[in-house]
Amino acid sequence: MSIEQLESIAQAMVAPGKGIIAIDESNNTIKKRFDTVGVPNTEENRRAYREMLLTTPGLNQHISGAILYDETIRQSTKAGVPFTKLMLDAGILPGIKVDRGPFPLAGFPGELVTEGLDGLRERLNEYAKLGAKFAKWRAVITISGDSPSGTCIEANCHALARYAALCQEAGIVPMVEPEVLMDGAHDIDECYEVTEATLRSLFASLYEQNVFLEGTILKASMVLAGKDCPDQSDSEDVADATIRCLKAAVPASLPGIVFLSGGQSDEFATANLNAMNQQGPHPWPLSFSYGRAMQQAALKLWGKDMAANFASAQSTVAQRARENGLAALGQWKKGA
Ligand code: 13P
Repeated sequence: MSIEQLESIAQAMVAPGKGIIAIDESNNTIKKRFDTVGVPNTEENRRAYREMLLTTPGLNQHISGAILYDETIRQSTKAGVPFTKLMLDAGILPGIKVDRGPFPLAGFPGELVTEGLDGLRERLNEYAKLGAKFAKWRAVITISGDSPSGTCIEANCHALARYAALCQEAGIVPMVEPEVLMDGAHDIDECYEVTEATLRSLFASLYEQNVFLEGTILKASMVLAGKDCPDQSDSEDVADATIRCLKAAVPASLPGIVFLSGGQSDEFATANLNAMNQQGPHPWPLSFSYGRAMQQAALKLWGKDMAANFASAQSTVAQRARENGLAALGQWKKGA
C-alpha cells in the first residue's frame, strides 16, 4: 500500500463530525463490563452484544471506524454476514487491537509495559486480509509517587514505534495510544507534565523508527486531575491544559488526534471534546475514540433485557455518536 493510501485512511478516520467507537475489549475486560449488568461472558453473548452495537441504524453518520478485538474481527451477524463486511459496506473502517496488554516492567515495581511485538508482522498481515484498515496499541502510564520513570515511558514509546512501523509495512494505519491513567490523586499540573514527557518521547521514537506521521493517528488521554484529586478539573481547565500540551509535543503533520474516555462520565467526555474544539481551529482535527463513553448506557439497557431493549440500546448508541460527532465540531450543547 502506498503512503498516499495510508494517509487517506487516516484522514477518513477523523473526517469532520466523525469519530471512532472502541469495542475492542479483551475477553477479560468485557467480562468486567458484563459483570456490572449480570450478563454471562460467553462467546455468543460477546458476539450478540457487538452485533447490537455494529448494526445500530445510522451508525455511519457519525462513526468513521470501530476498533475490534481478535475474536470479534472473525465473527459475523446472526444472519451470517461477517462484521468486517457489514462495516465496509456501511463505510465504517474496521480497526483491530493488536497489543497483548500491559505486563509488569521488570526492575520497576508498579510500572507496566505493553507486550505483543513477537509475531506481530504475521498477525498484521492476517488482519489486513481480514479487512483491517487500522490498528490500535495501548500503552499504560501510571502516575503514583515517583512513577512514571523515564525508563517506563521510553520502553512503552519504543514498543509503540516498533508497532507503528510494522503496521505501515502491512498497509495498516497505526493508532498509537499512550494512556496516562486517571487513577490517583495527582493534580492537573502533574498530569500535564507526565503527558507532555510521554508525547515527546513517543514522537522521538516514531521519528527514530521511520514512521510516516501523515499515516498515523494519535489516541490521547486528556490532561485532567486524577480521580481522587480533591481539586477536580472542569471542561475549560481540561481543554486549556490538553490543547497546550498537544501543541507543545505533537507535530502538525499528524492527520488527527482522537481521545479515549478513560473512565470519564459520558457527558464530561463529550463536554471536554466540545470545549477543545470551540477553542479551534487547531493544527489537527480533534475527535473521539471512546469505549465506555460510547457504550455504557447501551450496555445497561441491553444487559437488562437483550431482546426487549435491543432497539432502545441501539438508540442510545446513535445518540452518543451524534453528540460526540457534534463535539468533534465544537457544536455540542448540553441536552442536545
Ligand atoms: P475508553 O474510552 O473506555 O477509555 O476506551 C478507549 C480505549 O480504546 C482504551 O484503550
